[in-house]
This record gives sequence, C-alpha cells and structure tokens, in this order.
Amino acid sequence: MSRGKTKKFAQNAIRRNVIQPGKELFGNTSGKWRSEYFGNKNPISIELACGRGEYTVGQARLFPKKNFIGVDIKGDRIWKGSGIAELENLDNAAFLRTQIQLLEEHFAPGEINEIWIVFPDPRPKDRDERRRITNPRFLEIYKKLVAPGSWIRLKTDNTGFFEYTIEVLNTRNDIEDLEFTGDLYASDLRTECFDIITRYEEKFHTNDNKIKYLKFRFTAS
Ligand SMILES: C[S@@+](CC[C@H](N)C(=O)[O-])C[C@H]1O[C@@H](n2cnc3c(N)ncnc32)[C@H](O)[C@@H]1O
Repeated sequence: MSRGKTKKFAQNAIRRNVIQPGKELFGNTSGKWRSEYFGNKNPISIELACGRGEYTVGQARLFPKKNFIGVDIKGDRIWKGSGIAELENLDNAAFLRTQIQLLEEHFAPGEINEIWIVFPDPRPKDRDERRRITNPRFLEIYKKLVAPGSWIRLKTDNTGFFEYTIEVLNTRNDIEDLEFTGDLYASDLRTECFDIITRYEEKFHTNDNKIKYLKFRFTAS
C-alpha cells in the first residue's frame, strides 16, 4: 500500500465520522443512526457510491436539520469527504465504509428517508448486470430500507446505465412518480440537485456527454 493510502487509512481509523470495520459502531448501527450516532430525530439521506462524498458534504452544509451518510467501499475516497466534514464541524455528515449490497446489515427497515445514487460504476458488460446498483436485487434492498414516500435519485453521465435503469423501473409495478431528464443542466430538475458537482461529473461531463438524472418512489405496499 502506498504511504499516502496508509496515512489516510490511519486517519479514517480515528475519525468519528467514518464508520468502518474494526470500529465499535460498525455493524451496530441498524435502527440506531439517529439515537447512537447523530443524537437527533432528523431525516436520513444516504449517498451511494459516494466516492469523495460531494453530496454528503454539500447537502450537510445546506441542510443542518437533516442527517447525511455517504456509503462507499473505498476508504481513501471517503477520507476526503470525512476530512472536510470534520474540518467544517458538519456533525450531520457521516461515512459508512461497506459494500452497498450489505446495506441491510447497517440500516433498519424504514430508517432511510432518501437515497442518492451518484455516478455509480455503469458496469456495461452483460455478465456484470447483477453488479449494477440499480439492478432489481439492489432495488429490493432499497425498497426495504426506505420509509414510505422516500425519493430515490440517480445522477449519471452514462447513457447505457441510465437507459438500463429506466427499463428496469418500467418493468416493475411498485414504482411511482418517475421523472427523468437526459440533460440535467438544461432541465427544471436541475435545482433539486443543488448544483453540487462531483469528481466524476466534472471528469465525464462534456457537450456530447450530458448529465442525466432521474427520481422515483416506491409505492406504499
Ligand atoms: C464512478 S465512482 C463515483 C464516485 C463519486 N460518486 C463521484 O461522482 O465522483 C463509483 C464509486 O462507487 C464505489 N462502489 C462501486 N461499487 C460499489 C459497491 N458495490 N459498494 C460500495 N461502493 C461501491 C466505488 O468505490 C467508487 O468510489
């Protein structure tokens, strides 16, 4: 491991806002994020594939009365967002280092009030379809964990992934209020993304490759 990564991992190990394997809270947060971590009753919004956590940090600044949790498997990426949150005393921001497919080990049914999926790996190969994080098996996890009426939001630059997700959603009978745009910057929906620009957004947005956005809710069962 590079010296840079070793230093980042050592800092993550002592940061309160990084929940990762080896820490007391890791695996013990289910149903307890508000009481044990945030110490409030505010709604919880999670950012999946958060990388450096631009949405977690950006929204934590904008909405002090909401709690934000960035989720990613890569410690050196969440190190960036967790450091900014620590420096700015954003007590309403936290980072969970885990695989998204294991979310049920960390959240209780109905504990989450919003999910942002931000520039996930598109996994274009057919054989990787099950690893796309809008695949039906992931949607089933999200459905269990969100409170009724919660929005699920997706931002991506990848046309194939975006179209795949719309197709998956359209084949289900438990989705409502689906809205989408193939060109977020030219859309009225832009305001609800707060002009927060992530690293991948900056890297992959071009005139020919527009930012896409969609949102939906699960119907109450
Ligand atoms: C393309 S990057 C996007 C990072 C960031 N959201 C951005 O827009 O700059 C995708 C991120 O998803 C994370 N990731 C991919 N699959 C994952 C999984 N199954 N569980 C947790 N994190 C995952 C990667 O570690 C990576 O940081």
